[in-house]
Amino acid sequence: MAEQLNNETASGLIPEPVIVHTEHRWFLVMAILLGVMLAVVVLTGAAQMLHPSSAVETVDPRTLHLEGEFVESNLGTAVEPDGSVTVRILAEQYLFVPQCVIVPDKTLVHFRLTSADVTHGFFVQSTNANSMVVPGYITNVRTRFENPGNYQMPCDEYCGFGHHAMAARVTVVPKDQFKNLQPDERTNCGAQ
Ligand code: CUA
Repeated sequence: MAEQLNNETASGLIPEPVIVHTEHRWFLVMAILLGVMLAVVVLTGAAQMLHPSSAVETVDPRTLHLEGEFVESNLGTAVEPDGSVTVRILAEQYLFVPQCVIVPDKTLVHFRLTSADVTHGFFVQSTNANSMVVPGYITNVRTRFENPGNYQMPCDEYCGFGHHAMAARVTVVPKDQFKNLQPDERTNCGAQ
């Protein structure tokens, strides 16, 4: 076989069985790679609660400041009857409103965001919260913070000249401490 191969290769022709064998081998390698990649997508999606695009709820970006859940007085953290919290944030060129939100640790946190102008990005450091914020739609992301601390929340979608400076912060405090905050201290932690 090797003898034959050398002779044939020397003459510039590779025998058909060798080509078929090689192609089968590469096909097998590709099939295994595809299988591994598919498994990685499915397993990490399930295990780390990755978020598929959540843009299914619509909202009119022209009237955000006038009516509905994204009016300024309704932004920030709200405590739900079941003990979870909902955080409403408005993204606009080039800031998030509010600039800093405060949430309890070890609690389900439901983020709801929308944009007043262009597409922005929503990402919270060290969590699975990472999604686009598209005008006309509401971005829904659920997560939990196990440890208190400050988490950076930069815009991670290029949105214009001020994109690099567009960032907010999530301050996570222990559950008991959060409970003792005044209602106005709970909604946000001010522009910082
Ligand atoms: Cu907003 Cu980048």
